[in-house]
Amino acid sequence: MSTHADSKPWTVPALADAKREGRKLVMLTAYDNSFARVLDANGVDLVLIGDSLGMVVQGHDSTLPVTVEQIAYHTAVVARGLNRALLVADLPFQSDATPERALQASVTLLQAGAEMVKLEGAGHKLEVIRFLAERDIPVCAHLGLTPQSVLKFGGYKVQGRDEAAAARLQADAKAVADAGAQLLVLECVPSSLAAAITAAIAIPTIGIGAGPGCDGQVLVLHDFLGLDTGHRRPKFVKDFLAEGGSVAGAVRAYADAVRSGAFPDAAHSY
Ligand code: KIV
Repeated sequence: MSTHADSKPWTVPALADAKREGRKLVMLTAYDNSFARVLDANGVDLVLIGDSLGMVVQGHDSTLPVTVEQIAYHTAVVARGLNRALLVADLPFQSDATPERALQASVTLLQAGAEMVKLEGAGHKLEVIRFLAERDIPVCAHLGLTPQSVLKFGGYKVQGRDEAAAARLQADAKAVADAGAQLLVLECVPSSLAAAITAAIAIPTIGIGAGPGCDGQVLVLHDFLGLDTGHRRPKFVKDFLAEGGSVAGAVRAYADAVRSGAFPDAAHSY
């Protein structure tokens, strides 16, 4: 199986190369230095400082209380553990409400060690993506179930199920890529829709609950280790620690399963 050379650090342009060459991207979240080192040494290509830290580290019911300073703190401790993986950091709730606010927050995160920032949604965020991209800040967009919109959605629900919603998601995916995003996370959307979006855009897609047709996969670290976070376990989560036998073994099992296309299977997709 073809992978990025073990010793070669990932760069943003290399992500598009991977898509063109049909190499799957392996992504996990991390929040501390020790886990960052295990992920980096065992085949993870991208590490995300997700605002999921609000739910799995801080014990909140949503990602809304997370601040830029908290993401920056975790970004800095994780950055010190990485040699190879590309570090992506979330712009937390409303830190990207305007282009100027997003620029300020992104500078804080890039100065803490991030190499790309992730933001949720399209609509008025297209202007934000364009503003950041024009200023050489690599952007990962995030569509589908965007957890910062949980109050609007009324819960964590699969998105894009009906024809109109699927068409809107397809249009949004093209729009974020046209605005300058260089990576796209698709969360909780039907597999067929995620595969169609992946085929229609040039930037790589990373799925979480979006089926095997994406260009890569991401899971939240605590979910992937089968830890009880106090939240309902979504269908797409698989406990790789049970399979891998150790944290390092779990990371290798996950990386192998993503690269071979074995994960996610139908049982872990919508
Ligand atoms: O915050 C996070 O961990 C995320 C992933 C679920 C993609 O956004």
